[in-house]
Amino acid sequence: MNQEINQAYPKAYWDIDNAAKESGFTMASDALTCSLLKTLAATKPGGKFLELGTGTGLSTSWLLDGMDEVSTLISIDNEARFLAIAQQFLGDDDRLGLICTDGADWFDQNKHLKFDYIFADTWHGKYLLLDEAIAMLNPGGLYIIDDMLPQPNWPDGHQEKAIKLIEALEQRTDLVLTKQCWATGIVIAVKKAA
Ligand SMILES: C[S@@+](CC[C@H](N)C(=O)[O-])C[C@H]1O[C@@H](n2cnc3c(N)ncnc32)[C@H](O)[C@@H]1O
Repeated sequence: MNQEINQAYPKAYWDIDNAAKESGFTMASDALTCSLLKTLAATKPGGKFLELGTGTGLSTSWLLDGMDEVSTLISIDNEARFLAIAQQFLGDDDRLGLICTDGADWFDQNKHLKFDYIFADTWHGKYLLLDEAIAMLNPGGLYIIDDMLPQPNWPDGHQEKAIKLIEALEQRTDLVLTKQCWATGIVIAVKKAA
């Protein structure tokens, strides 16, 4: 076995990848992570999905590929010009709701929502408002984060934040989790039944 991805990439993947590069967007999730996101998305038929940090929609395209036709995905980002790329290539998919908003505002206005799968790829729901994000998970719901191994673009002090985040997740009694030193460093956590 090797790490090649030999199953099909999402139809819109290369268009989004090209447009992202042209726009100067450099924060997209890597293909291995995205392949895992897709695989895990397929475990939640009829699921309610949340992506925090759409970027230009690369990870979004993989999530949609793993979801069945009755699942739904809300994906938020505060950068309209990146979201416009996601809208251009994924906007026809009725399962997807793209929302341009600040993460803090979105959490403030949507505390009542529940999800079966959260991919937290921005500040809110990961380094900020972690409790609020976990509270939104249904029992058995997945909480997934990437970029937990040191990355070349990390600013000074980010390593300490990452260590604290892992500690906070590991101390929770309402989660079962596994850390994977693979791809950019992934944590997969599952919300336990109460
Ligand atoms: C790591 S990138 C997401 C990459 C995306 N998952 C992909 O694969 O292309 C993080 C995103 O968070 C967004 N972001 C940063 N601060 C935010 C905030 N306060 N509220 C909402 N989104 C924010 C950025 O615009 C950026 O697109």
